[in-house]
Amino acid sequence: MPGSPWLLQSHTMATPEMPTEPRALAEIAADARAAAVRFETLLTDTVAGREAVAEARVATPAGSSRPPFRTRVSLSRSRSRLPEATRADFERWFLLERVATFQPAMSGLRLPPATLVDYRIHFERMLASALDGQRRHRPDDDALLKDIGLAEGRLVPAGSAVVGDARSRRNPRLLLGGGVRQLGRGLLLFGPRTRGFGPFLTLHWHGRGGRRFHRSLFTPSYLAAAEIVRANPALKGISGASWLLDPELALVSPSLAFVRELQEANGATLLRAVRQRRDAWGATATSRHRRRLVESGQYAPEVWVSVWPRAALLAWADRQLHAGYGSSANGSSSSP
Ligand SMILES: CC(C)(COP(=O)(O)OP(=O)(O)OC[C@H]1O[C@@H](n2cnc3c(N)ncnc32)[C@H](O)[C@@H]1OP(=O)(O)O)[C@@H](O)C(=O)NCCC(=O)NCCS
Repeated sequence: MPGSPWLLQSHTMATPEMPTEPRALAEIAADARAAAVRFETLLTDTVAGREAVAEARVATPAGSSRPPFRTRVSLSRSRSRLPEATRADFERWFLLERVATFQPAMSGLRLPPATLVDYRIHFERMLASALDGQRRHRPDDDALLKDIGLAEGRLVPAGSAVVGDARSRRNPRLLLGGGVRQLGRGLLLFGPRTRGFGPFLTLHWHGRGGRRFHRSLFTPSYLAAAEIVRANPALKGISGASWLLDPELALVSPSLAFVRELQEANGATLLRAVRQRRDAWGATATSRHRRRLVESGQYAPEVWVSVWPRAALLAWADRQLHAGYGSSANGSSSSP
């Protein structure tokens, strides 16, 4: 309901861009619950809104964690019942109900204290954003799904701009993605180094963390991820899959090559993905320069997978901490 006066009176001092010190989880949850009730009242004023809310409640009840595809399907099916103008309110309601019912135990992980603070920072941001009357519905909103994942405990924050999925495994077919050399490196990696294909904490950039993609965010994020791995002995390390890990990127967009270089220089193994999934779309999503290179046939983005095994990751984290890096996982000083 863009423009409603009450929407502009956020209970927090936070803004979507720059959250202040987060409040206690219980306080955030209470505000989220109150705001969710207000949105529900607005939505259920119409038959279509009542149906959408009822359907979503049955298909994906708040307070439980569902596989991401189920949440995505349920969200888009219920939302599609509504006129365009009320879809953003429906998204707010859907997310706020989850923020209100979040419990740390839903993550299934032992969470370091800094991670709990990161959750609270994200929830303050979500609350401030929901109360911002300017927000518009955006179809196929990947960032919204990541926020829902955080609020359902399926995703865990690693710093302010990266989220991790601790339930993922790598497909053994990955060994076959890059010829004999990759087979050899993969056997060494998943054999003696990780002793298995998972679970890894698989990291994703979360564009709604409020900050621009920048190298200074990555060391704090990897340190935060390392502390989650340290606290959960079952995790075999961290992993990622992206066009940002493609070695070719060093020639095409050198300013983005740090993502790969930081990991590779500190014990991660990089493997070419077997199936070039849709993830490579991101390579041309924001850059005219890369789009031109693709169109002229000079660049074919590829998805690569990184695996940073537990022992190497924790050794790197210890070196950073001993060197006096970031007493705060949310800090943004120093370069990789
Ligand atoms: C990953 C991503 C966030 C990196 O964004 P980025 O830091 O802005 O880097 P990009 O190289 O994509 O820059 C995009 C444009 O912004 C401009 N730009 C980048 N940094 C800039 C800066 N500091 N100041 C001004 N302009 C800047 C560049 O000129 C570039 O355009 P060009 O390549 O045509 O010259 C972005 O590519 C993206 O959102 N991709 C789609 C989603 C995705 O793939 N996410 C990663 C999934 S693993």
